[in-house]
Amino acid sequence: MSEPGSTNPVRLAIVGIHGHGHSHVVRAQHLQGTGEAVLVAVADLRPAQPGTFDASVREFTSLADLLAEVSVDVVVLCTPIHTHFELTALALESGADVLLEKPPVRSLQEFSELAELIRSTGRLCQVGFQSLGSHAIAAIRERIAAGEIGEVVGVSASGCWVRTRDYWRRAAWAGKRVLNGIEVVDGVVTNPLAHAVATALALAGATRASQVASVDLDQYRANDIDADDTSVVRIRTTSGLPVTLALTLCAAERSEPSVTVQGTAGRIVFYYTLDLVQVFLDDRDPTTTAHDRARLLDDLVAHRRGAGGSLVCDFADTEGFTVVLDAVRRAPDPKRMPEASVVWVGEGGDAHAVVRDIEQWVGRAGNEHRTFAELGAPWTTNR
Ligand SMILES: NC(=O)c1ccc[n+]([C@@H]2O[C@H](COP(=O)([O-])OP(=O)(O)OC[C@H]3O[C@@H](n4cnc5c(N)ncnc54)[C@H](O)[C@@H]3O)[C@@H](O)[C@H]2O)c1
Repeated sequence: MSEPGSTNPVRLAIVGIHGHGHSHVVRAQHLQGTGEAVLVAVADLRPAQPGTFDASVREFTSLADLLAEVSVDVVVLCTPIHTHFELTALALESGADVLLEKPPVRSLQEFSELAELIRSTGRLCQVGFQSLGSHAIAAIRERIAAGEIGEVVGVSASGCWVRTRDYWRRAAWAGKRVLNGIEVVDGVVTNPLAHAVATALALAGATRASQVASVDLDQYRANDIDADDTSVVRIRTTSGLPVTLALTLCAAERSEPSVTVQGTAGRIVFYYTLDLVQVFLDDRDPTTTAHDRARLLDDLVAHRRGAGGSLVCDFADTEGFTVVLDAVRRAPDPKRMPEASVVWVGEGGDAHAVVRDIEQWVGRAGNEHRTFAELGAPWTTNR
């Protein structure tokens, strides 16, 4: 293990290499190319195809075995949600810093226990909300502070994505609230479009539990899953701002999700997967600006090598998000949509559910800060 602050390449390990973890493998290889880091080991229950990694990369089927044999500075965890707490604790206790995929934990209880462990070990934990690395966030804050859109009166987010039957079948935990008695808390709000939640909370200045006053949920499912695939979350911050997220995985086609800061003199729309910002001011043509972004793994590696300042997405900054997740965890099961509101498009594993006119309902929910039920969307009334 290199001493924190040493200029030696940071020794990286990645746990969970197949699904989204592959993108972390690619980023680690990039950092290896620049000499900032070296990938020393990987772990996955399902071994990699022979020849995937150089012979210098040790391969394991568990993080515990990996840490018993290899000295590691930074562990990247890209495993199912219900494994996050235990694996993060193992990594921190070994002296490693952690890049933990979102959602970081399954409850506020796990959040406080992990926060305490991070404090007592003195290690760093970055959470995988990559949109928070966008330089657009600082640019938006500057424009708000300069009063460009007048007084901020609300924040909304809309997300219209598509998920096929194969997506829900890819792993036993996909779309589950509870798997074999273990809470998983997967679903549109807590997983695929969780970035919209975290980004909206960041722009609303409500990343801490003490800044979230209330959470209203209105959750549905068109797919044959336990969790929600179409939801409105309406948060009220302690400063009185409404933050309303309207999210679905049952769109006719994928569109770019966005977070909108609503002001008395205009609005700022942030397409957080693209780092694009559009500003709409009353009586003027909209303007669009493109921004760069800091990468989560690069940022954590730089901190391990002695860079100061805050992490892009410190674990502590995901407390407000975890309040929302905890509300989803405790909520009743999402309501099943009536068949009349859902069309299935495509064949076999590629088939995906489309909720009729969902784009329109998502747009209205965010603009008006009303839930689907309050708007009278057909699947909430024709039951
Ligand atoms: N930041 C993002 O944009 C983004 C995108 C997709 C997924 N994710 C997150 O990444 C995580 C993984 O999601 P996924 O969709 O890739 O899941 P997945 O189930 O498709 O893949 C998880 C991988 O982890 C392995 N694994 C499971 N348990 C393990 C254990 N105990 N030890 C070692 N390996 C284990 C599995 O074999 C599999 O290869 C989740 O937290 C998810 O929310 C983040």
